Amino acid sequence: MRLGSGRSGRWKITVVGSGHVGATAAQLCAYKNLGDVVLIDIIEGVPQGKALDLSESAPIEGFDMRLTGTNDYADTKGSDIVVITAGLARKPGMSREDLRDVNANIVKEVAEKVSAHSPDCFMIVVSNPVDTMTWVAMKYAKLAKNRIAGMAGVLDASRFRHFIAAELGVSHDDVHSMVLGLHGEDMVPLPSHASVSGIPITELIPPDKIRGMVERTRDGGAEIVRHLKTGSAYYAPGSSIAEMVQSVVRDEKRVLPCPVYLEGEYGINGIFMGVPCVLGSSGVEKVIELKLSPEETALMKKSAEGVKKSVSQLKV
Ligand code: 2OP
Repeated sequence: MRLGSGRSGRWKITVVGSGHVGATAAQLCAYKNLGDVVLIDIIEGVPQGKALDLSESAPIEGFDMRLTGTNDYADTKGSDIVVITAGLARKPGMSREDLRDVNANIVKEVAEKVSAHSPDCFMIVVSNPVDTMTWVAMKYAKLAKNRIAGMAGVLDASRFRHFIAAELGVSHDDVHSMVLGLHGEDMVPLPSHASVSGIPITELIPPDKIRGMVERTRDGGAEIVRHLKTGSAYYAPGSSIAEMVQSVVRDEKRVLPCPVYLEGEYGINGIFMGVPCVLGSSGVEKVIELKLSPEETALMKKSAEGVKKSVSQLKV
């Protein structure tokens, strides 16, 4: 079934968690006229206040989407898209894995509650460690594998693209990149698949500089945490969520790197991990298998082992 079918042209997008990431995603979804947005949180007043504040920017920003803030899952009923941002964010010195046990309980509860009201939604999981949290969400929301993806590679690839564009002094529009694997230290940025208007970056940037950009991409989230000190990134994560939502709502069929449930692709089974996929109105419509070098394949295997270990240590 096509997502959003039976609706009068308006999509209903629920964002769970009204912190920086959730509120930024809600703002961008409204500004881009992607659908009516329900912002839900356990904290009373915050989703209501942020939804009203955003609504009051509509006359200036020129959008007509309705924004609702709530603490009641009944208000999320019939959502086409559910974005889960609930949970703790990192503080300096923490890894995403350090959030696993606390966030797993939160994501489990959210997945159960939200799917009771929107069993046919497309779910985007953002809470960290995202590859593991997406697995938890699929289990407790009981979603088919094409109805759920994590948000990670879009953000990591955007960081990599920014570093490449800044290094070369060229437009971001012309820079493409792929970042696969888990969203953590063992992520797999692929310089072999990064290009500027079709020109491989390996022809434009010396190898030591590329290595530096790969490392900076892997450390991209932690670099922001070190600056902010009290939390993690939200502008680029918010944009990444909105890009995924837009591809589904408008059936754009963008090819985006996302943690999706793998059943044999890349030789990986039974976990979520970042691979290129096609996002359209049916959700995850296709996984694309790239030809990887033996070295890249080994990195993907290491990433998969990391995700498997994390999932095996879950207490939910
Ligand atoms: C990041 O990389 C929050 O994990 C997210 O910034």
